[in-house]
Amino acid sequence: MKALVLQEPGDPSGLVLKELPIPQITADEVLIAVRSLGINPIDVKTRSGGGLYGALKSEKPLILGWDASGIVAEAGSGVTQFKKGDEVFGMINFPGHGKAYAEYVAAPAAHLTIKPSNISHNEAAAASLAALTAWQAMKTFTTIQKGQKVLIHAAAGGVGHYAVQIAKYFGAWVAGTASAANRDFVLNIGADEHIDYKAAPLHEQVADIDFVLDTIGGETIDHSLELMKKGGIIISIPSGLNEAVTDKAGAKEMKGYSFKVKSNGDDMKAIANLLEKGIIKSHISHIFSFNEIAKAHAQIETGRTIGKVVVQV
Ligand SMILES: NC(=O)c1ccc[n+]([C@@H]2O[C@H](COP(=O)([O-])OP(=O)(O)OC[C@H]3O[C@@H](n4cnc5c(N)ncnc54)[C@H](OP(=O)(O)O)[C@@H]3O)[C@@H](O)[C@H]2O)c1
Repeated sequence: MKALVLQEPGDPSGLVLKELPIPQITADEVLIAVRSLGINPIDVKTRSGGGLYGALKSEKPLILGWDASGIVAEAGSGVTQFKKGDEVFGMINFPGHGKAYAEYVAAPAAHLTIKPSNISHNEAAAASLAALTAWQAMKTFTTIQKGQKVLIHAAAGGVGHYAVQIAKYFGAWVAGTASAANRDFVLNIGADEHIDYKAAPLHEQVADIDFVLDTIGGETIDHSLELMKKGGIIISIPSGLNEAVTDKAGAKEMKGYSFKVKSNGDDMKAIANLLEKGIIKSHISHIFSFNEIAKAHAQIETGRTIGKVVVQV
């Protein structure tokens, strides 16, 4: 099979297309013939030597990628929920060695769910790590109540655009930050209000927020605490920029948590259900081929991606 192996951390030229044996599966895994894979900022960070590179560098061959949608080519002897021919998707082995940048990937059945037949493999692969992050970040620490006010940062991005749709599904009033150019996109995915983070301080644009999803970190945490209610909750997801969120929130009688997504097939099933019913939708701005992985990474590195980037295998 063809796979992109990370030879050296650094620029995208370190990702080299190689011919490798098809992976062997264990009893609790399935072998997926990959049709589409999702690209995330963590892929780019890890390729550059940050992100999960430190944890994975001794793995040979090192294959990036955690989001895959495809067809079960073989199911392990202990797998009861999937069989050969099923269409499945999910976030594989995160935060471990995902190995999704390949024509075949061995994935724990417990990380996957059935792909709804009314969505494409591209839409499913897109709705893996980013959608799971939005879902888990909004479910782990609280239950968002109908009518509560929610603010989603980077609402036009991968995580943010799912978070807006999921918060609306929970019945919240939702504001989303984005540049002026992405105003229509943010409103079209269901946000009640677009906040242009470049136009004026955030607390002059919105107030009395119950729940914030922070995808930016650093000063965005301080600015968010100025517009939240007492007792409000802020979840911060960018690694390295959010360690102080708990202390900063506590000092203002609010709750702050940093959060990392984890592979979970039950949560993927909940996301699949929302996708199937059209309650949430993947917005894919760029589709690349397997040979264009450098372009896919370059797009994510702009920091300006709208929705998701996928690679069709
Ligand atoms: N902890 C975890 O488990 C976890 C999971 C997933 C992602 N993450 C992290 O979360 C971050 C976001 O991930 P992502 O996949 O959503 O990234 P992404 O898709 O690359 O985000 C791109 C979006 O960010 C927006 N943006 C950039 N700067 C902004 C600012 N200051 N305020 C508001 N919006 C801004 C851009 O909109 P404009 O062009 O309109 O500014 C663009 O639409 C990354 O750092 C990622 O590594 C963490």
